[in-house]
Amino acid sequence: MEHVRLSENGSSVIILDQSLLPNEEKYIELSTPEEMFEAIQKLRVRGAPAIGIFAGYAMAALAHQMLKYKPISSCCGASGTSDDVFMQEMTEKGEYLKSSRPTAVNLAWAVDRVLHAARVEMHRARQADPNRLNVNAGTKVLADAIREAAFAIHEEDKAMCQAIAQHGLDEVLKNRTSGEPVGILTHCNAGPLATSEYGTALGPILLGTEQGVQFRVFADETRPLLQGARLTTYELQKAGVDVTLICDNMASTVMKNGWVQAVFVGCDRVAANGDTANKIGTSGVAILAKHYGIPFYVLGPSSTIDSNCPTGADIPIEERDPDEIREKFYEQPMAPEGVRCFNPSFDVTDHELITAIITEKGVFRPPYSF
Ligand code: MRU
Repeated sequence: MEHVRLSENGSSVIILDQSLLPNEEKYIELSTPEEMFEAIQKLRVRGAPAIGIFAGYAMAALAHQMLKYKPISSCCGASGTSDDVFMQEMTEKGEYLKSSRPTAVNLAWAVDRVLHAARVEMHRARQADPNRLNVNAGTKVLADAIREAAFAIHEEDKAMCQAIAQHGLDEVLKNRTSGEPVGILTHCNAGPLATSEYGTALGPILLGTEQGVQFRVFADETRPLLQGARLTTYELQKAGVDVTLICDNMASTVMKNGWVQAVFVGCDRVAANGDTANKIGTSGVAILAKHYGIPFYVLGPSSTIDSNCPTGADIPIEERDPDEIREKFYEQPMAPEGVRCFNPSFDVTDHELITAIITEKGVFRPPYSF
């Protein structure tokens, strides 16, 4: 079952609540902008591409809800046509959703893309009748355009994940020197839950496993929210992949032991020069990989590349609640009350540490030009 989808009647979004995994598989339905905002902010839906897919459907649901609005008069000094009002309201809701998390570019990208689809329909209607200033495409036409764009985002993500998985698998098999299982280390979760179907960083592993290639995966637990422990091991175990959970500070030992032939990570935003924002701790893993001479791959769809960010210094980094470090997941607080915490959710890996960036378009090596 899809873990992010539009409801049957189109007025809400249904998601698998990732914040409860692996202990509970619960689907929740979200109808209001506030519920949708909260779902992104609290990581009920998470992972850059999945947030983008969710945002597309959220906008589609909110647009559908506007069908019940009475169109306002399009003449006699009204401040706008009903198309204008629709676009204004949807833009405001989109901006609100965008403000829920700043780092993953896919969120803003998806909201802007579905709004653009509606704007195209609005202009088409106006151009069809240039003598009338206030001609409307109509709320249904605009809402349908948003809905179609949302479905397209989801379908394209599936195709992109498939292509990324194939490119990543080809790359790792090309470097293979023995018939031993291929050792991969991964950080955070960039599997199907974070995307659709194969995922990005886990894509080559899941695709290769289907084709009989044996992998041995080491999953960093990924403090503080434990996406590696809770989600990556959950997905790989389900798929029958040999997976070992390690604490983040054990990656060096695992690499030193010669158990890792490549590192695969996802990405939340890639700057034009290849600097990559991903889950906090990723840059440390890249530095370790460089030290041990292990190739370090970033895998992600081209929608995660932000040409408006020249370098990683331009990527906004989300800071989250200190209590995620101090007490979440613990029976009792594990730090003194009131202790100062620094909780950035992402870090930027310098492009010089990245062996290649794998998108659906192929394997990009330095110097990066996408
Ligand atoms: O805070 P999260 O769980 O949304 O962070 C997710 C990551 O950092 C993933 O590695 C990234 O989004 C890539 S998902 C394909």
